[in-house]
Amino acid sequence: MTAPDSPPPCGGGSIPAHVAIVMDGNGRWARRRLLPRVAGHRAGMETLRRVIGWCIERGVRVLTVFAFSSENWARPDEEVSAILRLMGQALMEEVPRLHEAGVRLHVVGDRSGLPPELPPAIEAAEQRTAGNTRLVLNVCFNYGGRWDIVQAAQALARHGEPITEQSLAQALALAHVSDPDLLIRTGGEQRISNFLLWQLAYTELYFSARLWPAFDATEFDRALAAYARRQRRYGRTPEQVAAQAA
Ligand code: IPE
Ligand code: IPE
Ligand code: MG
Repeated sequence: MTAPDSPPPCGGGSIPAHVAIVMDGNGRWARRRLLPRVAGHRAGMETLRRVIGWCIERGVRVLTVFAFSSENWARPDEEVSAILRLMGQALMEEVPRLHEAGVRLHVVGDRSGLPPELPPAIEAAEQRTAGNTRLVLNVCFNYGGRWDIVQAAQALARHGEPITEQSLAQALALAHVSDPDLLIRTGGEQRISNFLLWQLAYTELYFSARLWPAFDATEFDRALAAYARRQRRYGRTPEQVAAQAA
């Protein structure tokens, strides 16, 4: 009996091609230092800058990070405004650095809900880095997994296209990359919080107690080592997987 599609390759012992991260714990990191929460978000941006470098060094090809969720609008106005300002600032200041490092940037999420100055800055950054191939960086901003599935279904319905697993996957906001191999969530919570609901179907999960601003290379390598020890079975038996790998 064969499946309609051949099973995806197994990642045993290898570096994950696509790493996704829920960058959680900024607020608690700041509060512990008696700083305002926004100081945690600023420190968190520096962590992201470092993680991009580690991904390039270790041969990760795609990094997808959760920066602002559909639900984060529920936070105090002051914090939401500070995060939106930080995003604008990052688009101005970080893009030359990313471009220099060969990073291709995609900002993924509902742009219609953003302040009017952000979408043009996002488009300019994406265009500027469009030719880069060292690392694809997806920044999920005003993103929710449910929003993504609904917008994909709406797009298919609008064009009168049949709804299949393939067509829906192609209409999702991350259709330009394969599904994540490894998901890391920092900050100690063990939940998905409406991140990549469709794409995480067979992703290996790694939960770190470290708060995001304190996430370091040792902890990143611990996550990669844990991934390398996993056997990805995609529904098959361990024996079948071992036979395929042999
Ligand atoms: C994650 O850190 C960043 C965003 C959600 C924007 P938090 O701000 O959620 O930090 P904690 O979880 O309150 O510590
Ligand atoms: C998830 O973190 C969203 C981001 C990291 C952007 P949250 O802090 O918003 O998640 P919950 O509310 O604790 O589930
Ligand atoms: Mg949080």
